[in-house]
Amino acid sequence: MAEFTGRTALITGASSGIGADIARELAKRGTNVLLVARRTERLETLATELAQTGVIASAVPCDLSDPTARIALAAAHPQVDILINNAGLGVFGMFADAAWDDLNNMLNVNITALTHLTHLFTKPMAARGYGRVMMVASTAAFQPVPLYAAYAATKAYVLSLSEALNVEFKPRDVRFTALCPGTTASEFFDVAHHKKSYMVEKTMMTSAAVAKIGVDALANNKTSVVAGLANALMAFSTRLSPRSMNAELAYKIMKP
Ligand SMILES: NC(=O)c1ccc[n+]([C@@H]2O[C@H](COP(=O)([O-])OP(=O)(O)OC[C@H]3O[C@@H](n4cnc5c(N)ncnc54)[C@H](OP(=O)(O)O)[C@@H]3O)[C@@H](O)[C@H]2O)c1
Repeated sequence: MAEFTGRTALITGASSGIGADIARELAKRGTNVLLVARRTERLETLATELAQTGVIASAVPCDLSDPTARIALAAAHPQVDILINNAGLGVFGMFADAAWDDLNNMLNVNITALTHLTHLFTKPMAARGYGRVMMVASTAAFQPVPLYAAYAATKAYVLSLSEALNVEFKPRDVRFTALCPGTTASEFFDVAHHKKSYMVEKTMMTSAAVAKIGVDALANNKTSVVAGLANALMAFSTRLSPRSMNAELAYKIMKP
C-alpha cells in the first residue's frame, strides 16, 4: 500500500461512519487527509487523532449541498491525489409521504455534489497523470429498493458513473473504484429516520471493516467492490432473478 504514502486524500462525509473510518484507514497507510463535512467539531477531533499517526490531517468544514462551497473547496485544494466521494444520506419511507425538501437535499448531496466534486477534482488529476477516486455507492445500486426508492436510484447512478469514468480516465492514470457497502453501523439509519428491522440489524457490518475493504480495493485499482461475502452473494444473485422479484424481496428486508 506504499502507493498512498505521502499522497493527499480529500474525504467527504468524514465526520461520521464509513467516511471517518476511510480517513483512519488512509492515515494508517501514510496518506495526508483533508476531512470534509458540516460538523466542524467532529472533524477537528478526528484530525487531532489522525495527526498523532504522523500524517497531516486537516478539518475542512463544508456544506456540500452548496455549489459555491464546492467550487471554493476544489480551488483551495488543487493538490488532491485521492478523492473519496463518500458523503451521502438516505430518505426512508413511502415515496408519497416524503417531504420534497428532504428528497431534493438527498439528490443534491448523493448525485449533484458527488458529480460536481468529481468534475472539479479529476481535471487537475488528469493533467498531472495520477488520481484515485472512490465512489461510495451501495448494494442498493444493484436492485430497486421500495421504501428507499429514490435513495437506491441515486446509488445506481453512482455505480454507473464510476464504472464509466474508470474507462474514460484510465489513460491518464486516474482510476475509479465504486465501494458498495451493505447495511453498515453508522448514523445513516438515524438520519434516514429508519427504525432498523431484525434482518437489517443482523446483517450489519462495522464501518471500520467496510472502510478497509474499500481502501484495499482502491489500492488495487478494482473497478468495484461489494463489502462482505454475504453482501457480494446477494448482489450477484440479483443478476439471476427478475428485477420485479428483487424489488419485492428488498421490500421484505427493509420493512420495519
Ligand atoms: N450505513 C449504511 O448502511 C450504508 C450502506 C450503503 C451505503 N452507504 C453510503 O455510505 C456513505 C456514508 O454513509 P454512513 O453510513 O457513514 O452514514 P453517516 O454516518 O450518516 O455519514 C454520512 C456523512 O455524510 C456527511 N454529509 C451529509 N450531508 C452533507 C452535506 N450537505 N455536506 C457535507 N457532508 C454531508 C455527514 O456529515 P455532516 O452531517 O457532519 O455534514 C456524514 O459525515 C453514504 O454515501 C451512504 O449512502 C451507507
